[in-house]
Amino acid sequence: MASLFTPLKMRSLTLRNRIAVAAMCMYSAEDGFPNDFHLVHLGSRAIGGAAVIVTEATAIEPRGRISIDDAGLWKDEHIEPWKRITSFIEEHGAIPAVQLAHAGRKGGYSSPFGDYQQLPVEQGGWETVSASAIPFDEKNKVPHALTLEEIEEVKQNWFAATERALKAGFKIVEIHGAHGYLVTQFLSPFSNQRDDQYGGSFENRIRLLVELAEGIRKIWPDELPVWVRISATEWKEGGWSIEESVALAKVLKDLGVDLIDASTGGNIPGVKIPIFDGYQVSCAEQIRKESGIATGAVGLIKTSELANSIIEEEKADIVLLAREMLRDPYWPRRAASELGATIEAPKQYGRAWG
Ligand SMILES: Cc1cc2nc3c(=O)[nH]c(=O)nc-3n(C[C@H](O)[C@H](O)[C@H](O)COP(=O)(O)O)c2cc1C
Repeated sequence: MASLFTPLKMRSLTLRNRIAVAAMCMYSAEDGFPNDFHLVHLGSRAIGGAAVIVTEATAIEPRGRISIDDAGLWKDEHIEPWKRITSFIEEHGAIPAVQLAHAGRKGGYSSPFGDYQQLPVEQGGWETVSASAIPFDEKNKVPHALTLEEIEEVKQNWFAATERALKAGFKIVEIHGAHGYLVTQFLSPFSNQRDDQYGGSFENRIRLLVELAEGIRKIWPDELPVWVRISATEWKEGGWSIEESVALAKVLKDLGVDLIDASTGGNIPGVKIPIFDGYQVSCAEQIRKESGIATGAVGLIKTSELANSIIEEEKADIVLLAREMLRDPYWPRRAASELGATIEAPKQYGRAWG
């Protein structure tokens, strides 16, 4: 059996193979509510054979949205529509995972299908927040630096969203600590210039994420996994580094985090990223080897051969695919046939895959 199609046990869950659909914003929700589009989009990828389906960045409070069309879990009314989706995903043998997120200073945009600009308050935007009053770039708003009380509020909102995620039927919760959103803004010395217990030293910059992981681990049942997505490097001297990611992974592992989903970049503009197929795999590999935590590799993993070799060579425990899954929701079935593996077809489609 090809390594990519070996099951993986994680707490009480068994992933049917090593393929996950990575979080992807669809910018198609209204007031945070997922709708039929999300059901069909996420549901068809469950039918497609992936083991885990991660939702788009799902905002823990309204000002945590990247765009005004992001999905959310900031109110109880969001639970039922998500439940419909998680039930469908599970009926098709996949595991529903939610990526809980706060955009921080990179929030409040109009639709990317339109002009994609940070909206003024009068047009539905909001005052953005961050670790420090440092904008992402000169075109972005200067964010409000969260006070200690406000950090506490953000944490409580994150915990309340986690409780809702559980009620909505999600089996994995992923903390979005990557791509320059709020958690990254605290991790990076470029965006965090605080002089209190949340800024300065490594221990202080990771404090928000550590407190979130600790609190979420208490809420999320012991038998279910917690994942954390980070940007393992920001590709710039003096910024968040792979060495800090390894040190963070050790802390998170001790707190009961089950997997680091290792992405990179997104916190500062204009950095040169060496991009090639599987360009971030070495981050997942280094974190896995040096901290002993399970990792997910992501980024330009397009072929079944590359995906399988990542698992076979123990560079990561799972692969997460984003754009390939948009191109082909049946990517896992294609990969299985290319690698000579068999995966169960939905009974309704049996005559095609029999
Ligand atoms: C349309 C789109 C939306 C995305 N939204 C998110 C998101 O909500 N959260 C996240 O962590 N990454 C997001 N990403 C990044 C992907 O999860 C992934 O890390 C990245 O696209 C690289 O993987 P790929 O080469 O397989 O596409 C998004 C990517 C795309 C293409």
